[in-house]
Amino acid sequence: MDAISSTHIERWLRDCANVFPAHKDELNELDAAIGDGDHGANMARGFAAIPSKLDALAGKEIDGLFRTTATTLISVVGGASGPLYGTFFLKAAAPAKGKLKLTLPEFCTCLDAGLAGIVGLGKAVVGDKTMVDVLTPALAALHPKNGDSLTGALERAVTTAREAAEATIPLLARKGRASYLGERSIGHKDPGATSSALLLEALLGAVQG
Ligand SMILES: Nc1ncnc2c1ncn2[C@@H]1O[C@H](COP(=O)(O)OP(=O)(O)OP(=O)(O)O)[C@@H](O)[C@H]1O
Ligand SMILES: [Mg+2]
Repeated sequence: MDAISSTHIERWLRDCANVFPAHKDELNELDAAIGDGDHGANMARGFAAIPSKLDALAGKEIDGLFRTTATTLISVVGGASGPLYGTFFLKAAAPAKGKLKLTLPEFCTCLDAGLAGIVGLGKAVVGDKTMVDVLTPALAALHPKNGDSLTGALERAVTTAREAAEATIPLLARKGRASYLGERSIGHKDPGATSSALLLEALLGAVQG
C-alpha cells in the first residue's frame, strides 16, 4: 500500500482553496434553509487563506501543515464551523509529528483524532444532523480492508461521505443554529455535513493527482 506524503497533504489543503469557493453558493443556500446562510462564505474565506500560509512549509512535516491550517481556520472562519474544523486539523497534527509520510493506518489515526476533537468540542453524536454524521462513517470507511489500495480506501470513504450527507436530510437538528428550528429543520441537508463530504472529496482528488 502506498503512503500519504506531505506533498499529497499540501495539495489537498491548497485544493480546498478552489473547492470551497466553487461550492460557496451551494453551502450558503443549505445554511440559509436551516441556519444563517453563511456556511459557504465561512468555508470559502477560511480555505482561501490557507495557500499563502503553506508557502513557507512546502515539503515540510505533515503536522506543521495541519497545525497551520488549524490556526488559520480558527482565526479566519469564525462561526461554529471555524473552531470545529480548526480543532479537527489541530488534533490531526499530533500523531503526524515529524512525519513526511503516513501509511493509511497512520493517516486514519490522525483523522480519527481530529474527529474526536470535533466531538469533544461540539458534543454532537451521530444523528444530531451535523458534520459528525458524515465524518464518523466516512473515516470508519477509510480504515484499510484486505488488499485495499490507498485510492480504493479513499473512494470508499468519499462514497460513504456523500451518502451520509444525503442521510442528514430527514433528521431533526439537535446541535448548532439549526436546532433552534426544531421540526422545521427536517427535510434539509446539513451544510456542515455537506462541507465535510467536500473536504474528503478534495482529499481523494489530491491523492489521485
Ligand atoms: N456542536 C456541533 N458539533 C458539530 N458540528 C456542528 C455543531 N454545531 C454546528 N455544527 C456544524 O456547523 C455547521 C454550521 O456552520 P456555520 O459555519 O454556518 O456556523 P454557524 O452555525 O453559522 O455559526 P454561528 O452561529 O456561531 O454564526 C452546521 O451545519 C453543522 O454541521
Ligand atoms: Mg451558519
